[in-house]
Amino acid sequence: MELLNNNAELQAWRRQFSPEETVGLIPTMGALHKAHATLFDTARPECDQVVASVFINPLQFERTDDLKAYPRTMEQDLAMLENLKVDAVYLPTPDDMYPSGFATSVDPGDSAVQFEGAARPGHFAGVLTVVLKLFQRCRPTTAYFGQKDAQQLFLVQRMTRDLDLPLTVQACPTLREDDGLAFSSRNARLSKVARQQALVLHQALTAAVAEFQAGDRDPRKLEATMRTFFEDSPAVLAYADVIDEVTFQSAQTSSTSRGHAWRALIAARLEGVHLLDNLLLGNP
Ligand code: PAF
Repeated sequence: MELLNNNAELQAWRRQFSPEETVGLIPTMGALHKAHATLFDTARPECDQVVASVFINPLQFERTDDLKAYPRTMEQDLAMLENLKVDAVYLPTPDDMYPSGFATSVDPGDSAVQFEGAARPGHFAGVLTVVLKLFQRCRPTTAYFGQKDAQQLFLVQRMTRDLDLPLTVQACPTLREDDGLAFSSRNARLSKVARQQALVLHQALTAAVAEFQAGDRDPRKLEATMRTFFEDSPAVLAYADVIDEVTFQSAQTSSTSRGHAWRALIAARLEGVHLLDNLLLGNP
């Protein structure tokens, strides 16, 4: 596995491959866990070369204390990537990514100000800016993103389409524990009790799925069902919304004829930890 410490090293690595060779990119901020491993397991058999990036992107943190507190586990991350048979790891420094004078950023548009974007102004502009730079530098044929961060995935897919970027963005299903809790590096920050209480997110989502499958097509009623799970829970609900997958806007009963699938989104705070999850409802 090659370690590429700056853009010059990355370019020298990338130049070895002909246009016919497929290159898979998995962008990460490190602190890798089992859910990341599934992205690499998907990419490995599909691509001639697999490159990971590990970069804690300062542009997507609106608070410096959050940036400082972000877990840094480089030694373990590199051991895991080696085991996953990754060919190369790009490890840029902030100066390599954003040299002095850097000023341009991507405007993610209207779908970035709700849900995860509501409490984090500028977050998705920071995400899309670094993702675009990683796409330009690594020139992958396919980039792999997890479905748990549904809004991030949507915005990356839309940017790729809107800006005619020559790659495929592949969505990878959310990995769950046996009891349904979505894997996340944030789960490690929960006490044993809160870890159990966190199941409320998945329970609320599966209740919305069951109601949808039973024929309910009123998105506001499905949202109300999800909210009831938080009435007696210590988890503080941030949002529970049913969205149209194509627009990432609140689903409307009047739009059922358009044939866009609906997805239920949920986020809540437990012991100060922001947890999020989502499930596909289906085509209304
Ligand atoms: O999902 C993440 O880990 C980050 O937002 C990403 C896509 C690596 C960009 O910094």
